[in-house]
Amino acid sequence: MNTRAGATIELRDIERSFVSGLITTRVLNGVTLDIHPNEMTLIVGPSGSGKSTLLAIASGLLRPSAGRVRAIGKNLGDLDAGDLDKFRLAHCGFIFQGFNLFASLTALEQVAYPLQFSKVAHETRKDRAHEALAAVGLAAKAALYPLELSGGEKQRVAIARAIAKEPRLLFADEPTSALDKDNGVKVARLLHEIAHARHATVVCVSHDQRLIDYADRVIQIEDGVISSDERLSRPNHGALGAVAAP
Ligand SMILES: Nc1ncnc2c1ncn2[C@@H]1O[C@H](COP(=O)(O)OP(=O)(O)O)[C@@H](O)[C@H]1O
Ligand SMILES: [Mg+2]
Repeated sequence: MNTRAGATIELRDIERSFVSGLITTRVLNGVTLDIHPNEMTLIVGPSGSGKSTLLAIASGLLRPSAGRVRAIGKNLGDLDAGDLDKFRLAHCGFIFQGFNLFASLTALEQVAYPLQFSKVAHETRKDRAHEALAAVGLAAKAALYPLELSGGEKQRVAIARAIAKEPRLLFADEPTSALDKDNGVKVARLLHEIAHARHATVVCVSHDQRLIDYADRVIQIEDGVISSDERLSRPNHGALGAVAAP
């Protein structure tokens, strides 16, 4: 197998179909892809092209109909449902379009609460949550509830929650589609920054073209196959400032 060194996610000949009634729809039609740490990989494509399906397969949320997924050295196909849950808990962070925050928890609690399911000691959970909120520029809003936060702030809380456990793999599905331009850019910059400063493998799927400016690599998916795969070199990327800056 021609595996580029350092890939954290290796997808091989991935196929996925969905059956509904008598109709079988083939969504992914042989996707082979290596995804690397320290960069933000953006997967773009028209609505319905299979982006979310591919992300779910790469993260072990969904099994392929055929093909193999290897993530951080583990063949996900060899893991049973319980071990897959453990794998995701240990290594994966998720960010979705809808924020998925609890109405009754403060920003700090949203971030600290899930850490009890990771191996983070009780005494350090609040510190970790504070650090993560500070990293997304929300240190001053730690005590606020979702109702008191803007859409952009809510999404940044969701990002803080995803990074607090310091996952090696961070998956984002349409993270900016509910956001206005400025907030979309903030979230895009953060994802880029997380890949570079935290050495994470960031995989983002979106039809939002604004994200391209912050991606290191852009993969286009069309009709269930990869139609282009471009690595972008942007010297200014290293100079992207912290979103926390005023
Ligand atoms: N659980 C499912 N059951 C049946 N069809 C599905 C399911 N998930 C996705 N699909 C279908 O697969 C296609 C690709 O979906 P998706 O991966 O969500 O696309 P994208 O994220 O690019 O918009 C769509 O036609 C969608 O209706
Ligand atoms: Mg989708």
